Amino acid sequence: MLSIWWTTAKMGFLQNRHLLGLADAPAEDIRLILENAFTFREVLDRPIKKVPTLQGKTVVNLFFEPSTRTRISFELAQKRLSADTVNFSASASSLQKGESFKDTAQNIEAMKVDCIIMRHPVPGASIHLTKYVDSVVVNAGDGAHEHPTQALLDMMSLQERFGRIEGLKVGIVGDISHSRVAGSNILGLQKMGAEVTLCGPPTMMPLGVGALGVTVNHNLDEVLDWADAINVLRIQRERMGASYFPSVREYRHLFGITQERIERLKKQLIIMHPGPMNRGVEIDSDVADSENAIILDQVLNGVAIRMAVLYLLLGDKPEE
Ligand code: CP
Repeated sequence: MLSIWWTTAKMGFLQNRHLLGLADAPAEDIRLILENAFTFREVLDRPIKKVPTLQGKTVVNLFFEPSTRTRISFELAQKRLSADTVNFSASASSLQKGESFKDTAQNIEAMKVDCIIMRHPVPGASIHLTKYVDSVVVNAGDGAHEHPTQALLDMMSLQERFGRIEGLKVGIVGDISHSRVAGSNILGLQKMGAEVTLCGPPTMMPLGVGALGVTVNHNLDEVLDWADAINVLRIQRERMGASYFPSVREYRHLFGITQERIERLKKQLIIMHPGPMNRGVEIDSDVADSENAIILDQVLNGVAIRMAVLYLLLGDKPEE
């Protein structure tokens, strides 16, 4: 018997064979992923959170960088869809014996996998991977370039909260230049008709920010007054070669989402954070744990988004 979700999940397929970023994802694809994610979100509320959609498919999670949320939610998404799932950790692999990235990828693919989910510290690494393998590739974060499923789950969380994305005013606050989350959010939110303002120290704005179609405002209080929602970014110390601000204390004073700042607002402001958070630096604990913070909703929606992406990329296509 077909399970109920078949009656509501949208058939349809993405324009691109891989999900490498939102730069080349048309708005219709983003809409299709979000629609399917809301259907899969219902599956996650059932007592038995599993559908047979990807039975017989094999997905490898190839992680060259630490991750909590992305790695676990991709693995859960694969399990919820009944795919076989295998985890690869660079630190416990033959890369430590000098094996190359190309050989690693091709040896994994030789074991007949259908899809590779990859997180890598080098921008563009997932694009590079598509040159070595025939499997479907999904970018789970590549350096400071893109993190498409994070932006999709952020958009889903906004849609869930506001009922729409179009016309929303979204502030992205913090270390923009080192953030793949910012990169994908800027692209995705604008394609879906939201207005985006970036806020952070001038040293943390990307070169060529003027060409991104966003507003830049270094005054956090003005951005908080303007926005319907803000996405607060972590200071990406691991991607910084030098210090981009004089002290954590000064950063918090100018760009921290503090309880005091939130209390001054004469409205409800939705607070998002992709995690991991530096509590007491870019965001106060009281704010992160407040009713207006949807940070854990984002995490749950991440499973649904990854289910939708895998379904749309790997699901059986109708016969031509
Ligand atoms: N948001 C995010 O990518 O978190 P992880 O690094 O824990 O996967």
